[in-house]
Amino acid sequence: MAEKKTVWTKKDMLGLEYLSKEEIELILYTAGSFKEVTTRQIKKVPALRGKTVVNLFYEPSTRTRTSFELAAKRLSADVVNIEIETSSVRKGETLIDTGRNIEALKIDIIVVRHNCSGAPNILAQNVKARVVNAGDGWHEHPTQALLDMFTLKSRLGHIDGLKVSIIGDIAHSRVARSNIWGLTKLGAKVTVCAPEMLIPDGIEKMGVRITTDINEALDDADAINVLRMQFERDGALAFPSKLEYFKKYGITAERLNKCKKNIVVMHPGPINRGVEMSSEVADGKNSVILEQVTNGIAVRMAVLYLVAYAKGVE
Ligand code: CP
Repeated sequence: MAEKKTVWTKKDMLGLEYLSKEEIELILYTAGSFKEVTTRQIKKVPALRGKTVVNLFYEPSTRTRTSFELAAKRLSADVVNIEIETSSVRKGETLIDTGRNIEALKIDIIVVRHNCSGAPNILAQNVKARVVNAGDGWHEHPTQALLDMFTLKSRLGHIDGLKVSIIGDIAHSRVARSNIWGLTKLGAKVTVCAPEMLIPDGIEKMGVRITTDINEALDDADAINVLRMQFERDGALAFPSKLEYFKKYGITAERLNKCKKNIVVMHPGPINRGVEMSSEVADGKNSVILEQVTNGIAVRMAVLYLVAYAKGVE
């Protein structure tokens, strides 16, 4: 997975919109080295010894939070998980005050997930600690897109020129936005496919092809990234029923059999089985869904390491 290296100079990692092609490649390259560490019997290196990482998650998470915690621990950092439900956030403390108070405890990196788009950017402007975006509203989920790209590259050898279709609830998806930024910067041809109500206005300006026809999205695709229907974010209002969505857009073995033989099937999780895809597909031979989760640790190790030692940042 070797790539031409550049130097990381950014204090924070807030989204793939803000990164150059070379910076994205540097993260993927660095993740390639850390991937080897995660397969050792003793899965630990001293790269972040003496540093402290705080996980500040205002929204639920299984994969991202656990993965960031493991990534930090694999780098020998100390890790603190703040439980929002039992924190002073419940007494009305603002994000900036929470961030500044955490910083007063002499920590180094805050990993933040927030329901408001742009919350990590605001936090980053108000603390000296490094800030890493673990997903903000409908805006970006950069480490998810990075691990998706890392998985694609591991499977298919390259990203440049790949045809990748992102299928599902594009309107409410930070995963879609980060994937579009990242994949197009690395030269992939991206198609987004959804019911009309779930395609946001202006998405074509991001350089993607748009279709509402699932067959068009699957035809010729080297990889598909199937998004979760976000019922907690009004996604359910966009389609009459889960069954109808599944009939029109669900990825089934029958649909997959008409695709390229080695098509890569991704999903960021959590999956609504029988809505976005059948269990046969989710657990089938083309699925790399659990590989994505595994690769998340190496990718997040790379991000934590690069921001911790950003050149020219105090
Ligand atoms: N893919 C993802 O963000 O999953 P979690 O919500 O479980 O972190």
